[in-house]
Amino acid sequence: MTERISLTRYLVEQQRVHGRIPPQLRLLVEVVARACKRISFAVNKGDLGDVMGTAGTENVQGEVQKKLDIIANEVLIEANEWGGHLAAMASEEMDGIYVVPNRFPQGEYLLMFDPLDGSSNIDVNVSIGTIFSVLHKHHDDPTTDEPVTEADFLQPGHQQVAAGYCIYGPQTTLVLTVGDGVAMFTLDREQGSFVLTRENIRIPEDTKEFAINMSNMRHWDAPVRRYIDECLQGKEGPRGKDFNMRWIASMVADVHRILMRGGIFMYPWDKREPNKPGKLRLMYEANPMGWLVEQAGGAATNGRQRILDIQPAQLHERVSVILGSKNEVDRVTSYHSGI
Ligand code: AHG
Ligand code: MN
Ligand code: MN
Ligand code: MN
Repeated sequence: MTERISLTRYLVEQQRVHGRIPPQLRLLVEVVARACKRISFAVNKGDLGDVMGTAGTENVQGEVQKKLDIIANEVLIEANEWGGHLAAMASEEMDGIYVVPNRFPQGEYLLMFDPLDGSSNIDVNVSIGTIFSVLHKHHDDPTTDEPVTEADFLQPGHQQVAAGYCIYGPQTTLVLTVGDGVAMFTLDREQGSFVLTRENIRIPEDTKEFAINMSNMRHWDAPVRRYIDECLQGKEGPRGKDFNMRWIASMVADVHRILMRGGIFMYPWDKREPNKPGKLRLMYEANPMGWLVEQAGGAATNGRQRILDIQPAQLHERVSVILGSKNEVDRVTSYHSGI
């Protein structure tokens, strides 16, 4: 029988053998994974549990919250607040930051999450997920005792120390980076643990598959129109090959496919809301996914700049996202500078 490596063992080895992660960060990732396991079980209940449908409230982005958006948010907070590894958390479903209450010890990390990504797919039994990103509280001055504030979260994505997602699909799969490549763990429901199933995931540099919400085509900017138009011309066009299209409307599921077999994902700025840089959120969607994709040999930009180099100005900042197979992302990015 081949040896089974659990997430716990993988993290212990990252700590002990590779010296990559300190014990507190190891604990943090384990606790996030445990929370994802609980969310996975809630998702699986479907109509048998009180988890489907809307909660009737709105989040800070003006989106109607689903019951599972709120359940997942609560599970992540409850799991993470008492362990002593965190100073504060921020989430798509909370207006401001959640500082670890005084009754618990304060840790040195900040956790950001999209508790439930792909909310529109919950009620139709299509893959959804949880996305997370971890930063150091006081990256520039680790020795300071200053209380944590929202400003501490406003760090560019290249300062992340861990990032990942858990996809609730036909399998529940956790995909993780701590800066040493991308590893994938599949939930073994009988054992109740995540088992390492793939390591050193690599995204092919070329692809014939794109993911974009085509219904927004008339609102796009010229560079994105040009790129998709060239893809649509197929073999006869300038690209000289036929392209296939996928759009799941769960970023986790679209990114997961790209990590498994390549492709390009775009949610670009569009004219519907000219003053918003994009739809997706920088801190808990674009940054963790951008880092995972880069760690797997792909690229992630907003058309003009590497996602991970963007200096955020606010917690719920939005961003235009182009990520996936390197040569395709480079091409769309070059179209933005008129090349
Ligand atoms: P969330 O459910 O966390 O709000 O995120 C939804 C996002 C993302 O997962 C997906 O790629 C995109 O919204 C889909 O948007 P459209 O419905 O506009 O295609
Ligand atoms: Mn949402
Ligand atoms: Mn999302
Ligand atoms: Mn969400």
